[in-house]
Amino acid sequence: MNVGILRADAENGTVNVQMEDGLSIKLEDCWLRDHCRCTNCYRSDTYQRIHHLLEIPEAFINNLDYDQEKIRVTWSDGHESLYSANFLAEFHYKTWIEGRSLKPIVWQGASVSNKVCNVDVDSFLNSVDGARKVFQSLLDYGVAFISNVEVSEQATEKVCQALGGVQHTLFGGMWKVSTVREHADTAYTTVPLAVHNDNTYFTEAAGLQIFHCMEHENGAGGETVLLDGFHGALQLKRDHPEDFEFLTHFDLEAEYLEDGYHHSYSAPVISLDKFNDIKQIRFNVYDRSPMAFASGAECRSYYRALRNLSRYYEDKRNQWCFKLMPGTLLVFDNFRVLHGRAGFTGHRVLSGSYVSRSDWLSRARVLRLIK
Ligand SMILES: [Fe+2]
Ligand SMILES: [Zn+2]
Repeated sequence: MNVGILRADAENGTVNVQMEDGLSIKLEDCWLRDHCRCTNCYRSDTYQRIHHLLEIPEAFINNLDYDQEKIRVTWSDGHESLYSANFLAEFHYKTWIEGRSLKPIVWQGASVSNKVCNVDVDSFLNSVDGARKVFQSLLDYGVAFISNVEVSEQATEKVCQALGGVQHTLFGGMWKVSTVREHADTAYTTVPLAVHNDNTYFTEAAGLQIFHCMEHENGAGGETVLLDGFHGALQLKRDHPEDFEFLTHFDLEAEYLEDGYHHSYSAPVISLDKFNDIKQIRFNVYDRSPMAFASGAECRSYYRALRNLSRYYEDKRNQWCFKLMPGTLLVFDNFRVLHGRAGFTGHRVLSGSYVSRSDWLSRARVLRLIK
């Protein structure tokens, strides 16, 4: 970006900057002083401010001058600050928000299968282009495949590390799900699992989930089911707005109990950001806590809203069903995509891990896919 300043003036503590490309930015004196990038105010080696907020003087602008490339502010305490045109242009509010909002592409059922990426593991691990494809697919659709992975826990872990790093939970770092009942969870059985999000009982639910089917012998079934939770929530908003409203405000409690552990957390099933865009789905019909309600009406709304959302999530047209094979790693966004499993017979081993949302979005930022 290379923008030039056309004009700048200060009035009652507000600086108006008119850029040559037509952009107009208003900046308050308190903001300008806080964003001074001189070596007394800011450490460019650590990208951190030097002073505590209370130490930053509430000074006035004594003088403002500018040229095409920068503005110069002289303060009432004698301090001088320079701000480049490129730096100031970043803080145009609309551009700022636009640049930061995620833009998920909602999908319905198997139609998304030819849009989701399938990247060779070498390309993912060793090229920026391969890594960008995987993270872009996760940002757009919440799903990505990585293929030709060696069928071992070490090779799976290497991919998990590259996705942002393993998130440790009571289930371990790298976990292995088979019919051996290592934890008090239905995942460690052969029964079908209806679509759900994991960790609704954690304050920090897993960001990504990684599945690598290492073996499935002497049996059938076990297909993986994926579903775009955002799509279902938007259908609910269209058809049952009062249910959508309820599920975006009511704190539903979930819990996990096992010898030595008792996790519990309550939050809305559908979380919205400040622009009312959906940012997280926490849907798990199994892990709901027994709950008391403020009124009979609230109790009835809870069942009506949750059942109506469940109908979308259980509708086969919305589900994408496929069989995972050894060597192909499935990655999906647990804040958005619901997963389930068909019942199965035989011996099936799934290896994988969680990656925290903070960690995978950090990777996406380093790859310059988001801000
Ligand atoms: Fe699960
Ligand atoms: Zn300064």
